[in-house]
Amino acid sequence: MIEKPVYVTRSSLPTYEDYIEMIRPIWDTHKLTNMGDYHKRLERELKDFLSVPNISLMVNGHIALEMIIQAMDFPVGSEIITTPYTFVSTTHAIIRNGMIPVFCDIKLSDFTIDEAKIESLITDKTVAILPVHVYGNVCNYLEIDNIAKRNNLKVIYDAAHAFGETIDGVPVESLGDASVLSFHATKVFNTIEGGAICFWKDDLYEKLFDLKNFGIRSEEVVASVGANGKMNEFCAAMGLCNLKYVKKEIQKRAEKSFYYDERLTSRSDIRLRKQNLRINSNYGYYPVLFSSEEHRNKVYDRLREHNIYARKYFYPITADQQCFQGVYKNLDLKNARYVSERILTLPLYSDLEETEIERICTLIVS
Ligand SMILES: Cc1ncc(COP(=O)(O)O)c(C=O)c1O
Repeated sequence: MIEKPVYVTRSSLPTYEDYIEMIRPIWDTHKLTNMGDYHKRLERELKDFLSVPNISLMVNGHIALEMIIQAMDFPVGSEIITTPYTFVSTTHAIIRNGMIPVFCDIKLSDFTIDEAKIESLITDKTVAILPVHVYGNVCNYLEIDNIAKRNNLKVIYDAAHAFGETIDGVPVESLGDASVLSFHATKVFNTIEGGAICFWKDDLYEKLFDLKNFGIRSEEVVASVGANGKMNEFCAAMGLCNLKYVKKEIQKRAEKSFYYDERLTSRSDIRLRKQNLRINSNYGYYPVLFSSEEHRNKVYDRLREHNIYARKYFYPITADQQCFQGVYKNLDLKNARYVSERILTLPLYSDLEETEIERICTLIVS
């Protein structure tokens, strides 16, 4: 018997009635986009929820990354130190801004950028560090902050995986000069498609507003060259609905994660994510490190045969993607490549059933 498919994630939705109720007024106003009431309200509510100084909503996380890099006005050809162990968006956003990504290896302990290796990569062209809180594992922000201060660099965090987390009681989105969120359908908190930039400097708000709205200041004045990065009202409405449920969503994800932990911790040939008590996690992902690439691939194939779609997030590392044609292949990124060859991200979402977790775990250990 073919079991019903289980994907790596399943988008969370509010109740149908909640969403319909929320979007009903749009039929009176006919205001579908262009920074409408829901856009404004979601910015306010998220600013409160995340306890961040400023926030600017965007059409998606990738454009948010591109726009914050652009807003920093770095000279073309500047270097940005970043991790190759991430979704390609992080690397693409640097390159599409005319900057050069300088890849720094990761730590085997939590797969985030190895802060001890950052300083040796700094040149007179380096302008910023762009680390990623991969799987919600928060980077060593204290040391990254020190390095940035010592070397006069900006820090932009890709916080796409870290929605609502805190570390040492500090909201993760308030770290660095700016932090970028993704509200993609697959994320812990979604607006269907969407993203945001959280930042400290108040005057960035207007700059980002211009960048996401063609630089339009008034009907007849376009003051700068911008693009279109606006979030529409239907997405903002979805965000407002989902925000009401997100704490419950995270709680349910935590329960599923603990259930996996119970079933898999006794295995010596796989490594699970360690609980970091300094971090209030959002349980966005359940990554498992296998003993070898062969072991990982066997499990991946076995799960697929049973209609279970775990994912090799992130394989290959971005530096080794086909689009870079081997340019970075000689870089010392051995930890990133080591993890990438052995990682598997298991299905995790709030309504994943315990029987499904049982089934997945049985297949992994068999
Ligand atoms: C680490 C990381 N950065 C950036 C992005 C891009 O976000 P979006 O899909 O909202 O454009 C993602 C999305 O999956 C991501 O995982």
